[in-house]
Amino acid sequence: MNILVTGGAGFIGSNFIRLVLDESEQRIVNLDLLTYAGNLANLAGLEQHPRYRFVRGDIGDRALVAGLLTAEKIDAVVNFAAESHVDRSIDAPRVFLETNTLGTQALLEVAADQQITRFVQISTDEVYGSLGAQGRFTESSRLQPNSPYAASKAAADLICRAYHQTFGLPVMITRCSNNYGPYQFPEKLIPLMIANALEQKPLPVYGDGQNVRDWIYVDDHCRAIDRVLRNGQPGEVYNIGGQSELPNIELVKTLLAQLEKPESLIEFVPDRPGHDRRYAIDASKIASELGWQPRVRFAEGLAQTIRWYVANRSWWEKIRSGEYQAYYETMYGASGRHAAGPTPEDS
Ligand code: NAD
Ligand code: TYD
Repeated sequence: MNILVTGGAGFIGSNFIRLVLDESEQRIVNLDLLTYAGNLANLAGLEQHPRYRFVRGDIGDRALVAGLLTAEKIDAVVNFAAESHVDRSIDAPRVFLETNTLGTQALLEVAADQQITRFVQISTDEVYGSLGAQGRFTESSRLQPNSPYAASKAAADLICRAYHQTFGLPVMITRCSNNYGPYQFPEKLIPLMIANALEQKPLPVYGDGQNVRDWIYVDDHCRAIDRVLRNGQPGEVYNIGGQSELPNIELVKTLLAQLEKPESLIEFVPDRPGHDRRYAIDASKIASELGWQPRVRFAEGLAQTIRWYVANRSWWEKIRSGEYQAYYETMYGASGRHAAGPTPEDS
């Protein structure tokens, strides 16, 4: 099979490409715009791989995508390309709709024209909104996105459904919980906290730190996507989760303990607007229908991830020294949204 992977220079896409090249004979063309989050260093060593090709470009560029699908005899598309950070979507929502929603529609249109045989849309559990203390998201939970990011992904899911129902495009949607692992951009919770701790910088915890996320090791997510790509039923949605729920503050304390850094580095900062309280995934459908289960226990995955960020310090230092520095200032600097102020414990 020849696969077009979009957004393959990002966190999950680059892990997926390495997995597929390592464990199958499939050929991959990686189409990525190389936004701030796209980094060819994530794919270092693959440049000369005989079954891999990188193309820089936008998923919204129909002519480019149409040409690629034909020239490369593409059978299947796996769409990772996205603006992926909730905080950025609060500051600048439009590009989220342009890439995540309209970009996905453009890809679907070209894929339908060329009768692509499999299309996997990489979505997120955030489309379901927020849970209270009880319950888990199933594939039939209502779509109730709360951030512009989540809304742009939910809109993409609906247009994917429409392309299946109306045009017969064999689209499958995956909705996964929070990923962690190597090559995650250091704006996301786990790599941000590891990097800050290693540099003795404050660890900004939003609100009361009691928001719960359901963590999954990136390799487990990639293996689930591979199952869906091979055996998923067109028109179906598959939830993917790691069965590892944790409040943010507990996670941050665990990271500090493993890095042998003091808890005094923790700084409670003003909350993210519209901050979802809890995510938890019921992944029983993909388990029973496709035989997928997460392999990596959270403690083991986290220890591996910490080791990777310690050993690959130059990877994240390069990122943090450039454009990211300016972003960090707008979020966490003196006048930023998450500027340090009185902690919930002070009030
Ligand atoms: P990421 O931000 O690390 O990578 C996104 C990639 O998409 C980057 O390489 C970027 O250059 C590329 N890109 C952005 N706009 C593009 C465009 N218009 N055309 C082509 N390429 C473009 O994101 P990630 O964390 O790897 O997430 C990948 C996908 O998985 C996203 O669709 C996201 O919604 C979904 N997802 C992520 C998580 C998570 O925890 N990170 C969880 C569930 C689902
Ligand atoms: P994040 O990695 O941005 O993923 P998402 O918002 O998609 O779940 O954040 C994970 C959790 O960590 C979320 O509850 C917000 C919180 N958080 C902080 O407390 N501080 C931070 O600096 C960041 C980036 C996130």
